[in-house]
Amino acid sequence: MVSAKLILDKKREGRALGSAEIREFVEGFTKGDIPDYQMAAFAMAVCCRGMTDRETADLTDAMMRSGEMLDWSDLGMPTADKHSTGGVGDKLSLVVQPLAAACGVAVPSLTGRGLGITGGTADKLETIPGYDAALSLEAYRKVVAEVGVSMTVQTNEICPADKKLYALRDVTGTVASIPLICGSILSKKLAEGAGSLVFDVKTGSGAFMKTREDAVALAKALVGAAHAAGRKAAALVTDMDEPLGFAVGNANEVEESLCVLRNPEEAFSRNGRMVGLCVELAATMVSFARGVSLEDAREECKSRLGDGSALAKFEAMVRAHGGDLDAFAALLRKPTFKFKIQAPRSGYVEGIDAYKVGRVALSLGAGREKAGDSIDPLAGITLSVKTGDRVSVGDPLATLEKSSCPDGLDHAADALCAAFRIGPSAPEMRPIIVEKVE
Ligand code: URA
Repeated sequence: MVSAKLILDKKREGRALGSAEIREFVEGFTKGDIPDYQMAAFAMAVCCRGMTDRETADLTDAMMRSGEMLDWSDLGMPTADKHSTGGVGDKLSLVVQPLAAACGVAVPSLTGRGLGITGGTADKLETIPGYDAALSLEAYRKVVAEVGVSMTVQTNEICPADKKLYALRDVTGTVASIPLICGSILSKKLAEGAGSLVFDVKTGSGAFMKTREDAVALAKALVGAAHAAGRKAAALVTDMDEPLGFAVGNANEVEESLCVLRNPEEAFSRNGRMVGLCVELAATMVSFARGVSLEDAREECKSRLGDGSALAKFEAMVRAHGGDLDAFAALLRKPTFKFKIQAPRSGYVEGIDAYKVGRVALSLGAGREKAGDSIDPLAGITLSVKTGDRVSVGDPLATLEKSSCPDGLDHAADALCAAFRIGPSAPEMRPIIVEKVE
């Protein structure tokens, strides 16, 4: 192997590394031959010097190969998955994945737990009593084969290099690098084995990528490296300046997703931006996986959402994971602490800061400050209004929710109120899909 020090010298000087150098460096790190301090230096050099598209693809490939890679060819069905870079109130997977499965696409979806203001699909699903979101790879395969869709957390066998590297990046100031983020996200999705990938790259106050420029750069890196790996891929760069939909939390987000699946027309009239985005993401998956036009895929998705097929897929997946939706309905009926905040003045809602809403939800116990923290499944926020709505003084803006009365309620209520910008004129709405990268 080329010496690790020479590789570090080369990257520090801004020169492009060869494919074999990147592969051997990642292999050495995974086996423990390259110590953490050299990998941390590598990550910092990449942060400062960047990587070419080819290097990014090589890094992604090497990380993908660090663990088990799943193969779905024996299913006899096309496969696809959607990945979101995460945001506030982002429950789209609960609708999109079953919807694509209802259109004849198998969806093996390895998902994550929430950290910081970003919620995790696994946490949301686990609010359904009995739902096992930590299936073995064998059980996961069985659910995908039998139901067509499974959402479970990534096991330790997938991309161990990413787990080790992410922990180092977290403490060495090296998270914010497009090639490293791309390698981290995409290696896991490639190892998961889906033939087509659709990325929902969020941009705005509640997103990892705050600016449109950064979000588009990440979208391009993900799509480019996915193409280099032989997958069909596209990314929608979507708005995360305000929370998605009305619910921010865990159980309340599952409930909102169930409302979309059970009453899509009604949900569309109230929550058109969210439902429209679900259809567009699922249609992009279906179009790639089945090789049909996006227009045809869109029509099919609307039909499968409207006729209850997507709901049936969701219900079947929940059952296959051991979940009980009747017990979930009973959980939602449990008396919980609720506190409404009201509009301090009349006017138009000019914006609802997703970051601020996310911080309040986190403080209520809906999320984790650090990995391993426990969450309150019933904690969260339900918005009563959205950007563009007209309100009169005293109208409800949102409800804070928790299993029991939180400490620091006044502070949380004030912080939530501060997330709402109310002004004299109707704001111009930016479309939910800001840009598409193919
Ligand atoms: N999410 C990931 O999985 N990896 C990153 O590097 C950033 C966000």
